[in-house]
Amino acid sequence: MQNFSDRLKKEPFTTLARVAGETATPVYVIGGYVRDLILQRPSKDVDVVVVGSGIAFARKVADAFGSGVRAKYFKNFGTAMVRYKSWELEFVGARKESYRRNSRKPIVENGSLSDDQRRRDFTINAMSVSLQKKDFGKLVDPFDGISDLEKKLIRTPLDPDITFSDDPLRMMRAIRFATQLDFTIEQNTYAAIGRNCNRIGIVSKERILDELNLIVMADKPSTGFELLDETGLLKKIFPKLSELKGVEKIGNMGHKDNFYHTLEVLDNLAKKSDNLWLRWAALLHDIAKPITKKFDPKTGWTFHQHEFIGEKMVPGIFSRLKLPMNEKMRYVQKMVRLHLRPIVLAQEIVTDSAIRRLLFDAGEDIDDLMQLCEADITSKNEYKVKKYLNNFKLVRRKLKEVDEKDRIRNWQPPVSGEIIMETFGLKPSRTVGDIKTAIREAILDGKIGNNYEEAYAYMLEQGKILKLEIKKLVQNPERKNQSEEEGDK
Ligand code: CTP
Repeated sequence: MQNFSDRLKKEPFTTLARVAGETATPVYVIGGYVRDLILQRPSKDVDVVVVGSGIAFARKVADAFGSGVRAKYFKNFGTAMVRYKSWELEFVGARKESYRRNSRKPIVENGSLSDDQRRRDFTINAMSVSLQKKDFGKLVDPFDGISDLEKKLIRTPLDPDITFSDDPLRMMRAIRFATQLDFTIEQNTYAAIGRNCNRIGIVSKERILDELNLIVMADKPSTGFELLDETGLLKKIFPKLSELKGVEKIGNMGHKDNFYHTLEVLDNLAKKSDNLWLRWAALLHDIAKPITKKFDPKTGWTFHQHEFIGEKMVPGIFSRLKLPMNEKMRYVQKMVRLHLRPIVLAQEIVTDSAIRRLLFDAGEDIDDLMQLCEADITSKNEYKVKKYLNNFKLVRRKLKEVDEKDRIRNWQPPVSGEIIMETFGLKPSRTVGDIKTAIREAILDGKIGNNYEEAYAYMLEQGKILKLEIKKLVQNPERKNQSEEEGDK
């Protein structure tokens, strides 16, 4: 049996062991911390199982740490939490659990260490290490989790039908761990997910989303989504994504499988960016392809407007998955809406005005958009990929040039709505908006320069066309602000 005493001869474990000795309590580190210790993955979250009262032990540990450390406890669950420096210690009394059919909430009784290990999700998460003096650092591994770690296997300690039926969230966890750790789900365990996938219905959407986000954030998220699809879970938890699957053919004209394409884009992006929301944008960028798909005998399959329809679908998807309905969602919508723009640019002659327009529409998020678009190039044709990537380099260079020259990101046209209203004596109205848009468009198209004088002259021209009377000539607001400041002195 392996011994980890060397690796645990440090705080907070030495204090845990001392309190265990003083109170003659059998105490073990269990679960994810042990797994990660063996895998040498750094972790500061420690689950501690106590044969006895987890809460009473946690309080003594907090006292032993001193200097204001306190145990936070949850009487209903019989658990306690202690924060010590950057460590988070969770204490629970060893327990036996039995489950009812329609709930993830178990009926809990006190139990032994081995009862507690039996109620755990996977063999690699059921290992414990003793903190008692007599066998400090000894691995207690009744289900041979250590061999499964070596074989890179996810396996339930009990019959998988029992483990998954008890807590169906574990089906998602199996897939999440397989994805994060690059492990395989053992055959019986895998088959049981397929048999039990209907049971995911009793799990809260928030818990499902936590696992989904961990899959999205993995190094190679496609592994998780493929497993979700193959086991039947994807259809239950995220049907819109699973609708991307499949290839239709008419004559010899087929289209690419948008599910696998999407996963390839997500994997490509995952190599470049840890931005969760950009990864969600990758997952959703083609989400409207199934509903916009049409066949044109001349040109083949088309997905017209899928970027705009996709943008409209995002709120419904976010709401169903319990993703936040806030600026993160609007960011994803924007990425979906704009995801074709750089590629269209890369295919054409790149003009300054097209670049200015893209910069204006993407604003601060232009670099993210470029990353998404580069990830979206998944052609099997190497020549094509190279050509697009080269064109992207050109687009990026031009973006930089135009941005330095015109400062279009975070840009506000130099003539504001207030100036338009003052000049023509207008109240807030559509006319004001129309003039403002005309000025913006003229600057973006390069018809006029990006400065107050030219914009103001253009505004007067627009007023003339609309037969508006000039009430007051307004001076350059910069000068106006300056004189106000001087007046304040
Ligand atoms: N556990 C379980 N069934 C669950 C959730 C958790 O059996 N549905 C057990 C496992 O033994 C797990 C431990 O509780 O190792 C702690 O769970 P958690 O902190 O959620 O996960 P970790 O395994 O620590 O992994 P991670 O921190 O990556 O989520």
